[in-house]
Amino acid sequence: MSFRVNTQKSSCEEIEQALEKYSLTYTKLVFPENCYLLDSSFSESDLWKLRIYKDWKIYLQSISSQVPVHFFSDLSQVSPSKGEMKSPIRILDATAAPWGKTSQLASLYPDSEIFAFESSKVRCDKMLYNLQKQWIQTQGGSSLLNSESSPQWERRVTCIHDDIANIWKYITQEAYFDLILVDAPCSSEWSISLHDTKFLENWDISHVKKNYRRQKAICDSVVPYLKDAWEMIYCTCTLAPEENEAVVHYLLCHYPELTLDSVSTPKNKYIKTKAALSSFEWHPFKKEVSENCLRIIPSEYSEGFFIAKLLKTAL
Ligand SMILES: C[S@@+](CC[C@H](N)C(=O)[O-])C[C@H]1O[C@@H](n2cnc3c(N)ncnc32)[C@H](O)[C@@H]1O
Repeated sequence: MSFRVNTQKSSCEEIEQALEKYSLTYTKLVFPENCYLLDSSFSESDLWKLRIYKDWKIYLQSISSQVPVHFFSDLSQVSPSKGEMKSPIRILDATAAPWGKTSQLASLYPDSEIFAFESSKVRCDKMLYNLQKQWIQTQGGSSLLNSESSPQWERRVTCIHDDIANIWKYITQEAYFDLILVDAPCSSEWSISLHDTKFLENWDISHVKKNYRRQKAICDSVVPYLKDAWEMIYCTCTLAPEENEAVVHYLLCHYPELTLDSVSTPKNKYIKTKAALSSFEWHPFKKEVSENCLRIIPSEYSEGFFIAKLLKTAL
């Protein structure tokens, strides 16, 4: 049971005090930042009764799902050319619900303007509701969106219920975003277990192939909107090479302006990683793929994930 501290509403100190008051023992991870793991004798229901949970001061999120956005540049450390950029930075979350990474991005980049697309109406409405619950005014007066605006709230996260393929209807200027996250819809093999017959009964190679096609289409929709010298993270919570390395291989072949930046996590027993694959079923991938992308392998602490960081350079 892992969760993240919502630093817009609380602090690690406050959360630790609350956990200790109820004798809930925990580990605070060094990476990802603000991530906690309850000891295995406790479960999610032990958190439900806590005020910090009811007040949206913590967000239940798996450890590996918290990792990808940490690979975007730390804007306090960036080179002068990026640092000189006018605030706010613009972030696109191309496939956003249920909003875990959207809210994480808003915390990590308090001066950002975020556009969050979601094609499912139900999931988009839920995302909006959850974001409104979670994001109250912070220092400098930032918060939510699309709601009846309260004067002290800025419209900082714009939730759009639409397929990302229609981004052109909302964003009329190409090369608009500094950071783009594609946390792609996938076959969700993070949860695969040889003992879970239900998952295996529903698994079908045609789903993997369908996802591969839609993941490429989502990336095709967003690449033109990335500014030169800026960053896109592509990730999934599945193991299938077709939905991971093959998509990144496709991007490198079709967009000469994209290159890969290496991603890795600090050594940590909670996140077990391995290099991405160099080939699959006799199809070699570009060698940069295995050199730079990361696989988080399913373990007792975290679910499977694949992460690639792409940079755009002017041709
Ligand atoms: C893996 S989930 C995203 C999880 C989210 N980033 C988080 O951290 O909570 C992918 C989401 O993309 C949505 N989606 C699928 N295809 C889409 C498309 N073409 N455009 C926009 N959203 C899409 C799905 O409905 C789903 O909610």
